Amino acid sequence: MNKFTTVADIGPLDKAVAEALEIKRNRYAHSSLGRNYTLLMIFFNSSLRTRLSTQKAAMNLGMNVMVLDVNQGAWKLETERGVIMDGDKAEHLLEAIPVMGSYCDIIGVRSFAGLKDKAEDYEERVINQFIKYSGRPVFSMEAATGHPLQSFADLITIEEHKTKARPKVVMTWAPHPKALPQAVPNSFVQWMVAAGYEVVVTHPEGYELDSAFTEGATIDYDQRHALAGADFVYAKNWSAYADPHYGEVLCKSRDWTVDAEKMALTNNAYFMHCLPVRRGMIVTDDVIEGPRSLVIPEAANREISAQTVIKRMLESIQDNRND
Ligand code: CP
Repeated sequence: MNKFTTVADIGPLDKAVAEALEIKRNRYAHSSLGRNYTLLMIFFNSSLRTRLSTQKAAMNLGMNVMVLDVNQGAWKLETERGVIMDGDKAEHLLEAIPVMGSYCDIIGVRSFAGLKDKAEDYEERVINQFIKYSGRPVFSMEAATGHPLQSFADLITIEEHKTKARPKVVMTWAPHPKALPQAVPNSFVQWMVAAGYEVVVTHPEGYELDSAFTEGATIDYDQRHALAGADFVYAKNWSAYADPHYGEVLCKSRDWTVDAEKMALTNNAYFMHCLPVRRGMIVTDDVIEGPRSLVIPEAANREISAQTVIKRMLESIQDNRND
């Protein structure tokens, strides 16, 4: 595996989940695989789970790990080509990327959508430049349009808890005070459809996601109707995707907050969220703290999804060297 930015990069999902669960049973079984290999994790945006779980995953494989917070202690990076660099950005990504690649064997990148220019965000300019110019396998630690390590962890969590072959998985929009990217919902829907689940997306009108990610899912503007019979409820906020409101907050109504009354409409569903979560906005305290909340197990599975991806990248590097 030379890149991991989307569900297509992981191959058959049943095989990927089986490998992940094997890793979970003995996460130190491959502790020599990464000896003398270095992972560089590059953050353009903040993180708690991704930072810690990915570092832990690499350490489980015996790797060295370096972490660079681009906006804290590194030169500010220019990402546009052809600009006159007379502002506050001291270095261009096109020099910085191959330099960073020269110090490591695998690169993880976190770079959120700017939510100002849809075309620029959906081109995935930053992570695609790393893929093109670093000379290293690159994986997404959440890019502008997707968060595949999160979705892989969510899939592992659902596979561990489901009681039927094809559960009903409902992703519901919920309110948030700030404009958030569409990366998590895009990936979640795409991965859950690929897994063969019954997938329903519910949100207020105006919050339609890019249809390239929601193909195969049912869209229902009636949240209560959508939640009926759900086996898993995944709450998430996102900003508008559709023009002319790309990146805007169109609704802050707490009528969309997931609470016990709404969870009572479901088939005793599990509650999921990628975290961090705004209590009282996205979900009420009783639901997130309740016995059907999976927010901690799914966060714990981030270590397992990351370890599966990094292991496959190490195996590819070693296979190529042995050819
Ligand atoms: N879910 C997730 O990616 O969390 P962080 O932003 O804290 O890494």
